[in-house]
Amino acid sequence: MDRNLALEFVRITEAAALASAKWMGRGDSMSADQAAVDAMRKAFDTVRIDGTVVIGEGERDEAPMLYIGEKVGVRKDDSPAVDIALDPLEGTTICANGGVGATSVIAVAEKGNFLHAPDTYMDKIACGPGAKGVIDIDQSPTENIRRVADALKKAIGDITVVILDRPRHMDLIEEVRKTGARIHLIGDGDVSAAIACAWPDSGIDLLIGIGGAPEGVISAAALQCLGGDFQGRLKFRNDDEKSRAQKMGIKDLNKKYSIDELARGSVMFCATGVTDGPFLKGVKTLPGRQAKTHSVVMRSQTKTIRTIEAHHHLENKPHVVHN
Ligand code: FBP
Repeated sequence: MDRNLALEFVRITEAAALASAKWMGRGDSMSADQAAVDAMRKAFDTVRIDGTVVIGEGERDEAPMLYIGEKVGVRKDDSPAVDIALDPLEGTTICANGGVGATSVIAVAEKGNFLHAPDTYMDKIACGPGAKGVIDIDQSPTENIRRVADALKKAIGDITVVILDRPRHMDLIEEVRKTGARIHLIGDGDVSAAIACAWPDSGIDLLIGIGGAPEGVISAAALQCLGGDFQGRLKFRNDDEKSRAQKMGIKDLNKKYSIDELARGSVMFCATGVTDGPFLKGVKTLPGRQAKTHSVVMRSQTKTIRTIEAHHHLENKPHVVHN
């Protein structure tokens, strides 16, 4: 994949982050999400790619823009054909509450290299490079914590597990507490949390629990670039979700997905912080209609991680930020 595209994609997540950050703390998650979607959609119109959204805002009938199957980018003869997994605002509630770790994210792969995940839940486990190869979603949380502690040469009491704070995780939280490991409970945003497992100095070692399946594919793409590990298994709430998954080509509904089965080949990932989080600073407004964004771009091929701080003059970006 052309490395020059990386900067183009950062412009897209920057646009979505700037637009949604206007809604930070205003208690309106729908408007924050809509602002991010609109800005991201417009920004795609400046990038020379033959892109297809495979993980997006939902199916065509439920999302007016950036729906699964939507074509994005400027198509010329030499535009590379790529699949795109995106979340214009990952952590809509975080943004609405002015909480920690809302981001705008895009992952890009060559055609056919992302799992076309349905909008269901996914059971997930993620870790950083130091524990790659030792996690196994079929093992108990206790066993996984023990393996990760061994791999990282840490005492179990020094391992920190990040878990979404949900009633469905009551037993998981109890089991993790019994091991003596520490827990970081989060209200939302398990993509940021998965990335934190592989981010130096984040203080997070392991993610366990059930979150969105589309977010699982995006997390796997990011962890491919960071050399981390991820496994997932789709979790269905009803027969309708199962038949939607089957329509999307999922044959084995109980399959355990490795990181390579979720996102393979040459993958690019970029994210811009909307609110301050474990690895990115949020959008900062500056005097005189200016703003600063903090983004990361990474590629699985080289594992280069670039952080980009951009200083924006918003009067020159009326298409991104409305008053
Ligand atoms: P949104 O950005 O769509 O609000 O998703 C936030 C999120 O916390 C994800 O990070 C996570 O995978 C999912 O929601 C968990 O779903 P639920 O809130 O239904 O437990």
